[in-house]
Amino acid sequence: MKSARIVSAGHYVPERVVTNFDLEKMMETSDEWIRERTGIVERHWVKEGETVSGLAFEASKIALERAGLTAQDIDFIVFATMMSDYEFPGGGCFLQERLEIPGVPALDVRNQCSGFIYGLSVADQFIKTGMYKTILLVGSEIQSTSLDLTTRGRDMAVLFGDGAGAVVIVADDDQKRGVLTTHLHADGKYSKKLWAEWPSVVHHPRLTPEMLETDRIYPQMEGRYVFKHAVTRFPEVIHEALDAAGVTIGEVDLVIPHQANLRITEAVAQRLGIGMDKMYSNIQKYGNTTAATIPICLSEAWAEGRIKDGDLLALAAFGSGFTWASALVRW
Ligand code: ACO
Repeated sequence: MKSARIVSAGHYVPERVVTNFDLEKMMETSDEWIRERTGIVERHWVKEGETVSGLAFEASKIALERAGLTAQDIDFIVFATMMSDYEFPGGGCFLQERLEIPGVPALDVRNQCSGFIYGLSVADQFIKTGMYKTILLVGSEIQSTSLDLTTRGRDMAVLFGDGAGAVVIVADDDQKRGVLTTHLHADGKYSKKLWAEWPSVVHHPRLTPEMLETDRIYPQMEGRYVFKHAVTRFPEVIHEALDAAGVTIGEVDLVIPHQANLRITEAVAQRLGIGMDKMYSNIQKYGNTTAATIPICLSEAWAEGRIKDGDLLALAAFGSGFTWASALVRW
């Protein structure tokens, strides 16, 4: 059986930088509140006209170049995103068109912050069965255009950023490298703790002018509730992966958690009994880019030399659904 090996990563964020001080001009918030509660200093937001598939394309080009491959080498696209460019079709098709590889299948994975690891697990299964040999897995998000940028929406608006990360995964004969194990979970009874209600097919029509006047067209979150579940689920699902692979946390070289909040990452490190030097964090620069956080981290950590050949990585995510997931990867 083949092993799914990540051979490269790339990332791209929009040029426009939005600092906490910029947000102070839009809503009642402060740099101090945001840094203290979340660790975020700035994030990148798109300008008019930029698209989820466009960010994904830029990240994919870098990942392919670093892998020494071209788009023509890809035989499957897995596209993790909450938001497509349009209502439908999914972003994977728009990315495929940009890559100019007609006929290559494009699967959209819509599992919010856990989307990248869900996608990694899908890619892993397809490689193991021998169905595909070279898979492009992308996490790409534009959050900024969905946020309520007034004081009413400040609890959500300060958290999120836009960006994309991509990895190239190839079928490899070395069973000791690549994706060692993946673990996926969901519990739909918490769906409405972090969700966007409108527009909705429940209503006829799906969107009315009256709806636009309410806060129900914006994402809603019970922040403390999400926080409490996240700090439990992250260590739990990481331990599940360690147990499945028969390794200890001491053998892990780097934990790459979904970047939800620096305070969550710190609490997870404490519960795992490891120092922050073993937890990768770049939320300070990007905020929470949902499905894109983990591939952006992989790309940055690899470029910085924080990830070296043979390193053991633990990836973990928690997000809306609730969904949560982990993976162990031997780089
Ligand atoms: N600026 C200033 N004040 C604010 C802001 C803001 N941006 N947002 C909320 N406040 C106020 C609140 O109104 C409240 O005021 P009050 O006491 O007068 O009522 C006060 O600050 C405290 O609000 P809390 O919500 O209790 O603040 P908390 O300490 O819980 O921090 C936070 C909020 C940062 C959102 C935290 O709950 C959190 O990180 N939760 C997890 C969030 C998360 O990770 N979400 C993403 C999940 S992943 C995904 O799938 C998208």
